[in-house]
Amino acid sequence: MPSTSEPRSHAEAAVEVRGLAKRFGEVEAVAGIDFEVGEGEFFGFLGPNGAGKTTTINMLTGLARPDQGVIRIAGIDCSRNPKAAQHLMGVVPDESNLWPELDGFENLCFCGALYGMARRSREKRARELLETVGLADAARRRFGGYSKGMKRRLTIAAGIIHLPRILFLDEPTTGIDVASARHIRRVIADLNAGGTTIFLTTHYIEEAERLCGRIAFIVEGRLVRVDSLANLVRDVQDRRVVQLALGRDPAEMLGPLRQTFPGIEFEPVTGDALRAHTAHTLPLAPLIRFFEERGVDVTEANVIRPSLEEVFVCITGVALDRMRKEKEQSKRDGGVT
Ligand SMILES: Nc1ncnc2c1ncn2[C@@H]1O[C@H](COP(=O)(O)OP(=O)(O)OP(=O)(O)O)[C@@H](O)[C@H]1O
Ligand SMILES: [Mg+2]
Repeated sequence: MPSTSEPRSHAEAAVEVRGLAKRFGEVEAVAGIDFEVGEGEFFGFLGPNGAGKTTTINMLTGLARPDQGVIRIAGIDCSRNPKAAQHLMGVVPDESNLWPELDGFENLCFCGALYGMARRSREKRARELLETVGLADAARRRFGGYSKGMKRRLTIAAGIIHLPRILFLDEPTTGIDVASARHIRRVIADLNAGGTTIFLTTHYIEEAERLCGRIAFIVEGRLVRVDSLANLVRDVQDRRVVQLALGRDPAEMLGPLRQTFPGIEFEPVTGDALRAHTAHTLPLAPLIRFFEERGVDVTEANVIRPSLEEVFVCITGVALDRMRKEKEQSKRDGGVT
């Protein structure tokens, strides 16, 4: 059973999901998941590529139809009353959904009109939002000519034009410039501080660690853990992690290393470095001797503070491994996979 902890708020959940599932032919993209996001939470949804994050967000926001399950947004059943639910939420999809021929200002006004906002209020809000996302100077330029980071910032402004209570963001900072990414993180952190519930998927573990209060991990369509950031990090706090800079690619030494130090996990890192993790004491001197005996210099040894990255590797790695084994077992037993 996945371990869960209750959302922070005990008021009505902003998002409630029960038995949500969707398949694409043979692929079970989302395999029956349950979770809740409390009002005002900053909720992270993490998992490896193809785990089912976008499919889940698309179902939550009405862009895809679930095969099974119930979704409630602030208590409203989305299958019964999708319009009412959609008014409460803003969406920033992984691919921009704005109009390339319209300029920034026109795009925002048009989105406001789609939500039924009166002309004066949508124009006022559009101007404010262009300031918020740092695009006031580009307001009259065609969206199609914006850079990737500018496009993403305008897409966020469009997603919040109608002051939604819940904002869903699918990888808002992937593949854009550092300054835009920083700007976006600040905007969503401010929104959350102002009371907006945030549901975020990201590939940047550091970003999730910095922003999220609670995190769900999805692997191959299944939730393997939902917990507060504090609990997640506490689990790995006692692990010892050391990164060694070597003068040579450690790939061919991994086998002998694992044999010599069975209680330690080794993971190559770019730039001829190696990470050693363990839940026990790390025998640093014998490790360095191991390399010296093979004529490899250890030029640096840095102790790394265990972070959400270790949690991600442990949880998703273990879960992937377990699921593969279960699948192989059920194949051997002649079961359905
Ligand atoms: N429209 C579709 N048609 C067929 N298969 C799909 C479709 N959309 C998603 N899938 C499959 O469903 C699974 C989940 O995909 P999804 O896009 O939800 O993953 P993700 O977690 O968002 O991945 P990423 O991190 O790469 O964005 C994948 O195996 C994907 O190939
Ligand atoms: Mg995705």
